[in-house]
This record gives sequence, C-alpha cells and structure tokens, in this order.
Amino acid sequence: MNILMVCLGNICRSPLAEGIMKTKLPEGFFVDSAGTISQHEGEHPDRRAVKTAANHGIDISRQVSRPITSQDFQDFDKIYCMDIDVYEDVISKAADEGQRRKTALFLEAAGNHENAEVPDPYWGDMKDFEDVYQLLDRGCEQIARQLQSRSL
Ligand code: 4NP
Repeated sequence: MNILMVCLGNICRSPLAEGIMKTKLPEGFFVDSAGTISQHEGEHPDRRAVKTAANHGIDISRQVSRPITSQDFQDFDKIYCMDIDVYEDVISKAADEGQRRKTALFLEAAGNHENAEVPDPYWGDMKDFEDVYQLLDRGCEQIARQLQSRSL
C-alpha cells in the first residue's frame, strides 16, 4: 500500500509526516510526501523540521521537496492533506471520483474532526515545530493502526 503525505511546500509538515509514518508501518507499505507548490522543489526539508525529527531519532535530512503530480493519484492508495487549503487544491487536481476518494484530511482521517488542520510552522519557531511533530505523531499512530487492520 502506498501512502502520500501532502502539505504546501513539502519542506515542513509533510516531510515530518513521511518520516514519522515510516517508523510506524511495517514492510509492504511505501510512504512518500509532496507539496502543492513547486517553490521549494529540489530542496531538503527546512532545517528546523530536520532538527525536530532528529530530536526524536528520525532522519528526514535526505528527503527532497517535489510538487504533487497527476501520476501520484494513480501510484498512491491514500493521499493525506495537512490542511483544508491543501486538501481543496489536491481535490481540484484529482481526475475522477476514485482519485477524490483516495484524498483525505490527515487529522480527520486520524479521528480528529473538531480541528482537522495541522498548523503551518514555517513562520513560527522551534516550539511550533515540536507541537506539529506531536500532532503528527499521534495522527500517524491512529492512521497506521487503521491501515494495518484494513490490510489484514
Ligand atoms: P509546509 O510549510 O507546507 O509545511 O512545507 C511551508 C513551506 C513553505 C512555505 C509555506 C509553508 N512558503 O510559503 O514558501
């Protein structure tokens, strides 16, 4: 099963989500990430995201930012979006109902219906990155559990 994490720039939230999710899923699951903008294409994650992940023993330093493509809708089984703007942008790129059905708000899929947006830490500080890490860690735990029970 192939899982794609999507945020705006693919340098803060979705690289963290990718790195965390990889630690929670066994072999047989492929996890990648992408952005809805290409502004940071080719760049490694933001150094604050790299440091935050490293503080938790996860190396995301070699990830490379890329924009989501129409091919991704064919290659991935689940596409998790970090906030509503990203979700709407991704949905607008989907070619059909099947592709739209693969697309979800990350926190909503994790069972968090009240506030389903992962805040963007890009304009914030290290505390904001750590808070986002904790939110993503809990969300990934929930989603990883669901994905594994479904694929049994
Ligand atoms: P991300 O954060 O979507 O979590 O990767 C951002 C990265 C870059 C920008 C905004 C948010 N930016 O405006 O360049």
